[in-house]
Amino acid sequence: MNLLPRLPDDTVGADVAHQQRSLAALLSRRYRLPIAAADVGPAALPALEPLLSHRSVRRYLPKPLSDGTVEFLVAAAQSAPSSSNLQLWSVIDVQNAERRHALAEVAGQQAHIVEASAFLVWIADLHRPTELAVARNFGHEALSYLEMFLMASIDTALAAQNAVVAAEALGLGVVYIGALRNDPERVAQILELPSRSFAVFGLCVGWPHPEAEGAVKPRLPQGVVLHRDRYGDVASQRGSVDEYDRRMQTFYAEQSIVAPAGGWSIHSAQRIATVAALRGRERLRKALHALGFELR
Ligand SMILES: Cc1cc2nc3c(=O)[nH]c(=O)nc-3n(C[C@H](O)[C@H](O)[C@H](O)COP(=O)(O)O)c2cc1C
Repeated sequence: MNLLPRLPDDTVGADVAHQQRSLAALLSRRYRLPIAAADVGPAALPALEPLLSHRSVRRYLPKPLSDGTVEFLVAAAQSAPSSSNLQLWSVIDVQNAERRHALAEVAGQQAHIVEASAFLVWIADLHRPTELAVARNFGHEALSYLEMFLMASIDTALAAQNAVVAAEALGLGVVYIGALRNDPERVAQILELPSRSFAVFGLCVGWPHPEAEGAVKPRLPQGVVLHRDRYGDVASQRGSVDEYDRRMQTFYAEQSIVAPAGGWSIHSAQRIATVAALRGRERLRKALHALGFELR
């Protein structure tokens, strides 16, 4: 698998060859497949290494972040692209212990929410544009449509992921907390959110505990997710998915994770088999209506 464009031959020196070997190692670890060749410009590896090494971290050292870290992460987040530059998101740095505990309760008692050095809640924010429009004597009827909610959610996710990449480049560990959506109204209450704002997810940030740094979780082989020109035949991917299931079973066993026999596909199938598998989140539309989103 040659994943990246080849450099012109005359730029390939010893240094570049070393970078290519390093990059191939990172890619092989991500897929748990041998990657024969991957060529990359010499300057790229330091930026790509944290990206390709991502793993969620759920245990942290009791050590504060350096001064200015949250602000730096927000700057990285604000550097993400934004639909029409509307910047339809906000983020809440939750420091108060009581609020953290209450959020952890919503999220099924995930202890890392309380233990992380920082807990950032990412808000799809249609409140700010409502206020801006009102203050300038404009209407804001477009905000009532599903499109604007989706736009705000996309902007929020892109921003948060930029913060993740920045945090990992600093040596920090992170994990997203989608379980805040178990009870959006309660989260809105805890964080005193105004109408038309919604906590899409939280993000724990902290110094990884050396005993729980986790391993890089393998992903589906590229042949399964990368299509050429048209959506490919899913049936022909079955063998690749079966092999991935076996790799994931090995991963689960190595990490002592209790996982269903059958690996990733069965785990995924169980996650979508019934409404009950949504664990309360099936009422999201209702919750969003209650928070002021009309979703027309
Ligand atoms: C939007 C989103 C929400 C998530 N919510 C949770 C969560 O509530 N709790 C948790 O432990 N992990 C959560 N995760 C982490 C995923 O389980 C994790 O990213 C996935 O298993 C892949 O593992 P990796 O991040 O180590 O590569 C979430 C990830 C995303 C992207």
